[in-house]
Amino acid sequence: MDKSFNYLISPEIIQLREFSPKLKIAILASGEGSNFQELINLSKSNRFDIDIKILITNKSAAGCISRAQNSNISYKVIKGSDYENKDYFEDEIINTIKKHDIELVVMAGWMKIMSSKFVNAFKNKIINIHPSLLPSFKGSNAIKEAIKSDSKITGCSVHFVEAEVDSGSLIMQAALSISDKDDLETITKKIHLLEHKILPLSISQAGYIIRSRFMGND
Ligand code: GAR
Repeated sequence: MDKSFNYLISPEIIQLREFSPKLKIAILASGEGSNFQELINLSKSNRFDIDIKILITNKSAAGCISRAQNSNISYKVIKGSDYENKDYFEDEIINTIKKHDIELVVMAGWMKIMSSKFVNAFKNKIINIHPSLLPSFKGSNAIKEAIKSDSKITGCSVHFVEAEVDSGSLIMQAALSISDKDDLETITKKIHLLEHKILPLSISQAGYIIRSRFMGND
């Protein structure tokens, strides 16, 4: 695919902030984990001061697991079906995150809707990446829905997580146009490329906000 398509990122942040000590993050992922891999690559090459303390996945065959294994990152599979109810499932995730002394929780392809109990356990410390220009096309089929609706524009968004699905203050968005030649595959690939740009930058922004709050600077 031609990687030189036009896009627009807003706000126009281009540099990752420095964190000393490194920003401690947990990744929640349910799928392939290409966004997770981008974060691993940036961290390994010392281009981004993050410490990925743990990957939590709710799918035992998810691609993100082998990415964690290949990079010696701790991971835990926590499947909803192994718990009596959603409350116990979420308790396990909350306890796992708490054990790892995390500053920021990053949902990078996490396909499970979480309750307000989970959101409140890490208030203003959870961010999510979503493959649409929110508030358009919330939910699990965002790219398909955008194409089906004959939209001429779509993109991806990173936002702080609130109890309501795919809501919460936006941190960054990237927009691209949909042409007649595009289909689900080409748009999905383009969105992924843009996600790999805005997720690290958004983590950097969120980390800065969280650390400033902690230092009482805002
Ligand atoms: C990404 O496109 C992300 O935006 C989407 O899942 C994909 C995960 O890709 N998330 C959602 O749809 C959440 N509602 P990855 O596993 O290759 O990082």
